[in-house]
Amino acid sequence: MVAKSLLALSFGAAVVLGQESCPGYSASNVQQTGSGLTADLTLAGEACNAYGTDLPNLTLTVEYQSDDRLHVLIADQDQAVYQVPNDVFPRPGSSGDASTNSSSLRFTYTDSPFSFAVARADGETLFNTSGTPLVFESQYLNLRTSLPENPNLYGLGEHTDPFRLNTTNYTRTIWNRDAYGIPAGTNLYGAHPVYIDHRGASGTHGVILLNSNGIEVKINDTAGQYLEYNALGGVFDFYFLAGPSPVETAQQIAQVVGMPANIPFGGLGFHQCRYGYRDVYEVAGVVHNYSAAGIPLETMWTDIDYMYSRWIMTLDPERYPLPLVRELVDYLHQHQQKYTVMVDPATAYQPGGDYGAFNDGVQQDVFLKNASGDLYVGVVWPGPTVFPDWFAPQTQPYWDDQFNSFFSAESGVDIDYLWIDMNEAANFCNYPCSDPFGYAEENDLPPEPPAVRNSSPIALPGFPPEFQPPSSSAKLRLRRQDGAGSMMGLPGRDLIDPPYSIQNAAGSLSNKTLDTDLIHYNGLAEYDTHNLYGTMMSNHSRNAMLSRRPQDRPLVITRSTFLGAGTYVGHWLGDNISDWPHYRISIAQMLAFSSIFQVPMVGSDVCGFGGNVTEALCARWTMLGAFYPFYRNHNELGSISQEAYRWESVAESARRAIDIRYRMLDYFYTAFYEQTVNGTPSLNPMVFLYPEDAKTFAIDLQFFFGSSVLISPVTEENGTSVDVYLPNDIFYDWNNGFSPVQGSGQTVSLEDVDFKTIPIHIRGGTILPLRSQSANTTTELRKQSFQIVVAPGQDGTANGSLYLDDGLSLEQAATSYISFTWDGSMFSMSGTYGYEAGVNISTITVLGASSQPQSVTSNGADLSATYNSTTKVIDVEVNIALTGDASVNFG
Ligand code: GLC
Repeated sequence: MVAKSLLALSFGAAVVLGQESCPGYSASNVQQTGSGLTADLTLAGEACNAYGTDLPNLTLTVEYQSDDRLHVLIADQDQAVYQVPNDVFPRPGSSGDASTNSSSLRFTYTDSPFSFAVARADGETLFNTSGTPLVFESQYLNLRTSLPENPNLYGLGEHTDPFRLNTTNYTRTIWNRDAYGIPAGTNLYGAHPVYIDHRGASGTHGVILLNSNGIEVKINDTAGQYLEYNALGGVFDFYFLAGPSPVETAQQIAQVVGMPANIPFGGLGFHQCRYGYRDVYEVAGVVHNYSAAGIPLETMWTDIDYMYSRWIMTLDPERYPLPLVRELVDYLHQHQQKYTVMVDPATAYQPGGDYGAFNDGVQQDVFLKNASGDLYVGVVWPGPTVFPDWFAPQTQPYWDDQFNSFFSAESGVDIDYLWIDMNEAANFCNYPCSDPFGYAEENDLPPEPPAVRNSSPIALPGFPPEFQPPSSSAKLRLRRQDGAGSMMGLPGRDLIDPPYSIQNAAGSLSNKTLDTDLIHYNGLAEYDTHNLYGTMMSNHSRNAMLSRRPQDRPLVITRSTFLGAGTYVGHWLGDNISDWPHYRISIAQMLAFSSIFQVPMVGSDVCGFGGNVTEALCARWTMLGAFYPFYRNHNELGSISQEAYRWESVAESARRAIDIRYRMLDYFYTAFYEQTVNGTPSLNPMVFLYPEDAKTFAIDLQFFFGSSVLISPVTEENGTSVDVYLPNDIFYDWNNGFSPVQGSGQTVSLEDVDFKTIPIHIRGGTILPLRSQSANTTTELRKQSFQIVVAPGQDGTANGSLYLDDGLSLEQAATSYISFTWDGSMFSMSGTYGYEAGVNISTITVLGASSQPQSVTSNGADLSATYNSTTKVIDVEVNIALTGDASVNFG
């Protein structure tokens, strides 16, 4: 191999050196262990030092952790290099009895230059690094796997690219970023270095790289097809997952990143939010208007507008006075509705004042500091702000205390759910600096600080002199000396401008975020842990919610995520724009979070955040959003109002879509519950359910809500038709009385889809527990009886399930899990029946029946059945309790 120095001579010192010039490693001292092997890896030639310093001695640890999971760790022998802390990302255990023999994966390696391959037991090679030498440097890791031509790859978020990734000259940057407008091709709020590789009949597998440093994944076909990791630090910590189906791969990802947290049933209701509700009266007016329009509103939200000058843990005493806010919350609770507000990590910097969240944090030493020991001060909504250091052990009790006092049920703002934001962390600039966004509009802040806050040394509102930089607008940085302090991780690195530049859309690493040379309480550098900030805030905030309502399952919605965030929180997809491309891409975004990243409580801002929505788009989006797990209309400050009642057509689309969603809510809650138990996706891309049908591989404008309900929204601006792909299977058309539709692996055009209709098909072979009618709140919904819809598959059989619990408690005293089956002539249910649902099954509906049954009986008693020969639907009136096994015979 040619060492760096030679290449540098021929191309000039400024030439960026690729890993081709690096020597790679040689494996020695290979030891077989009970569950795999270990080896030493030694630099095999002169260091290339391409983007940092080559580490001469590495260790390889290979462990067959279960029969479908292989762990491959390549780390430095000295264990000095940063690794994702175990308390932030608990490593999955090994099943104990896995071995080379029992595993469906095979690890092989070449000793010099070292490379490795992972194959399935049937011989299919899944990963093979032999094409290029491994590079392991102080600030740069490089490893490339070859792939078959035209691979079907999914994941590597967060992004707004198509669900199936481009594989030609494509770069995915992973570095959490405040990303207004969520532009395609850029790094967004979350870091999920995991992909699924689907090869049709040759199976599906998954690869997780557990690494929180900035990463650039390059996928290209210029040197054969390959996928290459370029990371700014950390180690190669890989989990290979055998699949072999997409759903099994998703389950195996959940076994590594953690099973998602369950959510309160009410969290699946319809939510209304906006940035710019001027005062509590306006919020109350919105609640009233929804009610007057007959549109079920489950949860009212308030953005940062409620705060005094955008100081977290405060109320604006003029616009959101505590007595009125409490009255609003009481009103909502009396009407079975809920209230949610936003909390940002950035805490107003108010030295010398009487601002509790700031003073307590200073006193308890929870905020990030510069190398000098001074507070690190950036600028977010309130102006100058400080940022909690989630690594500090005292930060959790501090956060709990803030929540318990400000969100106290007895005397504070008694929120039900929580919204956390700006936790990439977003930072507009380092204070002092100019306000780059002009966000502090006069009319958006109190006219002047009220007396109670008069000790504030910062002249608010507005951003006058304090914000003007001394000389230029350049970011002022207190640069930490190399290796200074008690920093953990390799010393001697450039933590601000590493030699290798990832394509961060914000520019250099620290732009619009915390300085990457900040050192956290435990010595870890922000450079290494940046991508964890939002997930750590999520974890702390979930705990804080639990500390004030220990009995209740929390619902926390965050903007920034990392692998495993779903174990704590849900995610909304950030600052989209009110246009058709963002409406369309929301499906791909949501599918990636639900089915790959295991953050299943996910959705986009319905009707779009930025810009002004049109009536037609808002009507369509309100219907599509009814099949997002997280269904919230949210809007930006300054945009035209877009609550569903603002246009009659949108109001009608909302009423109809919410009606359908709510009737399906137990069905979806069951799917969600199953995901929390074993990772089975609660939303399915078409490829997940038809993995052998190549026409499904790229589809991301249709999806399955649960595994049974195919949603095919109209996606063209002002269009009233949609091309719908139906695989070779039987479906039943929800909008046409459940009439059967035989799919034939072709796209069919649905015409005349008006602005109150979203195409919905039930997949044959499934059984859907519906509520027989909808209601104004999810509390009322739970008092409705069930209608069980049997949708026989091509073989005439079907099955489904229903999970029931109280929908709220963290620990359930009793639950029910009921399995339904249809064998062609008999419906039966069996299961466990702990939860007292208080309602029965009132109807069994069998679809696709070729004729009226002669008789329908249960326990020998005749039941009354009706048959519609046009739609081929049998409806049977029953009264079956959800307390024990039962069956109904169709003669
Ligand atoms: C961020 C959020 C957005 C919110 C705004 C004001 O841009 O992404 O949802 O409305 O901040 O808090």
